[in-house]
Amino acid sequence: MKEPKRHTITAALPYANGPLHLGHLAGVYIAADIYARFLRSNQEDVAFICGSDEHGAAITLRAKKEGKSPKEIVDLYHTNNKEVFKKLGISFDIYDRTSSKYHHKTAQELFLELEKKNAFVKKESEQYFDKDFNQFLADRYITGECPKCNAANAYGDQCEKCGSALSPTELINPKSTLSGKIPELRKTTHWYLPLNKHEGWLKNWINTGVFRGKQLHDVSKWKNQVVGQCLSWINAGLQPRAITRDLDWGVKVPLKDGEGKVLYVWFDAPIGYISATKKWAEEKNKNWEDYWKSEDTNLVHFLAKDNIVFHTIIFPAILSELDGYILPKNVPANEFLNLEGQKLSTSKNWAVWAEDFLNDFPNQEDVLRYVLCSIAPENKDSDFSWKDFQARNNNELCSIFGNFINRALVLTQKYYAGVVPTLGELIEIDQEVLLNLEEIHLQIEKDIRAFKFRDGLSNAMKLARVGNKYLAETEPWKLVKTNPERVKTIMNISLQISANLVIVFEPFMPKKSLELANLLNIEIPKWSYCGNQNLILEGHQINKPNILFEKIEDEIIEYQINKLKSSNKNQTKFSPMKDEITFDEFSKMDIRVGIIKAAEKVEKADKLLKLTVDTGIDVRTVVSGIAEHFSADDVVGKKVSVLLNLAPRKIRGVESQGMILMAETEDGELSFVAPTKEINPGNTIR
Ligand code: MF3
Ligand code: ZN
Repeated sequence: MKEPKRHTITAALPYANGPLHLGHLAGVYIAADIYARFLRSNQEDVAFICGSDEHGAAITLRAKKEGKSPKEIVDLYHTNNKEVFKKLGISFDIYDRTSSKYHHKTAQELFLELEKKNAFVKKESEQYFDKDFNQFLADRYITGECPKCNAANAYGDQCEKCGSALSPTELINPKSTLSGKIPELRKTTHWYLPLNKHEGWLKNWINTGVFRGKQLHDVSKWKNQVVGQCLSWINAGLQPRAITRDLDWGVKVPLKDGEGKVLYVWFDAPIGYISATKKWAEEKNKNWEDYWKSEDTNLVHFLAKDNIVFHTIIFPAILSELDGYILPKNVPANEFLNLEGQKLSTSKNWAVWAEDFLNDFPNQEDVLRYVLCSIAPENKDSDFSWKDFQARNNNELCSIFGNFINRALVLTQKYYAGVVPTLGELIEIDQEVLLNLEEIHLQIEKDIRAFKFRDGLSNAMKLARVGNKYLAETEPWKLVKTNPERVKTIMNISLQISANLVIVFEPFMPKKSLELANLLNIEIPKWSYCGNQNLILEGHQINKPNILFEKIEDEIIEYQINKLKSSNKNQTKFSPMKDEITFDEFSKMDIRVGIIKAAEKVEKADKLLKLTVDTGIDVRTVVSGIAEHFSADDVVGKKVSVLLNLAPRKIRGVESQGMILMAETEDGELSFVAPTKEINPGNTIR
């Protein structure tokens, strides 16, 4: 294995179906950005690639929910997410999108190249079809009972309750989420990637890093959980995987017999990395093939654990069939970030949205980067809490890093009007500190190259601690009268540490690094200057000091905690939201205004009243569990809402032919739900 000449760094293309939250940032983008920034600082050749993933059922489902077109959805979120990444300093060389013509063309060309090389098999199978909507149903459009754990509302591809991967035909009592009806099976033909044929080499490659007789990567550098997940997939036996779908949103299959079909989103999305690289290279006058077809290129995919198999099995299988493409050298996948001890959930709104953070904490993007990197779920799931966020800002960034910088700058200003003093004779404590400069930066570099960004950051912080301790121990403010020469040396060294902090923090906190460089009145030095003891020359004029980090008060944190709790749709005071239903399911209910004509207690049942209800279309009996709250006399003459088409049920021997709708408080108090205007029985409620 040779030293790489260049780096192709990809970050999983986020679906353009919603805003970004802290889970995305901690899982993928901050780590990828630190890596890319470090390599650039070390003057290595980097292509840092990302963009929006704009196809697939995630997008069409969102569009349908909001009554918009898929295009409207992706345009909105592509623009928003791109902006948010920029504000957070995520330094993509290109942020492309998969709905672009250019990407469609690239994906189609690669599909055709594979087709020509017989990399696919075509197979006919039976798939669910919704007659009312005249379309085949993507896995996510079918729900039913899970065959493994019997949970209701499992999806066609996965049960969210027990986590099992499913196929739609395994579901018990499948239902289309479009019409709510039972879908029928119809024959359809699709292109499959025969992963079974790739099993052998994939297993060997994952285990040894060897492919076609060449040692491509060092397996000891891959994370255990990544290798583990790959092997458990491979050992379960790889099956042919359909890479086309019967849909109209996506990249069209560029063949006559592929009409009405598009490429499967997980086929076209990783190709998005390639089309984006091509576009970037064209704009920058570079050769894109260097970044994808050269063995001395370090291809690294950043992503979270739910994306592992797509990047270690399916995409490599595709790449291996194409001419000259390299395989990833590493896939340093992260685990998940929890929030305040609970699993993050966008549907339950248990999330901190990146955009909200940017609005609520202006100019504190780097505090977020710092905290999310400090707690990154590198090897296991981790937890973000607001209190911890505050503590890390106040006790680490302010009290250590900020405090050291502030002392160094203020004292230089005070004693020397901001002019860097001369370095005099060194004593032991100085030499130790200077040695630290050298050692720590080498350690940080090692950490970053090994994808241990938490360690890297903690070592960068160690340098700030060294500086802070150095000033605390040498106490220049006490010596300034008695030994001014000594103070000059101390302050010179403190400024050299400060300048080194500019370099080592640049990958982690680029804006704060720049702010610090501005205070020191220097450019951000490249990584190779790290450890240098003479980064700031004697006589150099630094700028007026300014606070680098500000304390975050308790009120701010309480506000955030309350905001999170009050927007959560899964609060404990009220019952959690029920599973989603379609409009069609809702419209099946026949609810009308009715009027109670007579009422009597049901014998031997304390809770029940037998009501005679005029529904406008008939008069019927409804048994209702309201006797503890209302007497028979209370309710006669009341206008109510009645669910008419509920299947009749026998309750205590009396047949109930419908249901009266009641509102209930958290204390169990009941109230009728009635129209606020004069509306006659028989009129509908919808
Ligand atoms: N959009 C996918 C997700 O959010 C990730 C796609 S990564 C790529 O899970 F490889 F397909 F680009
Ligand atoms: Zn299940």
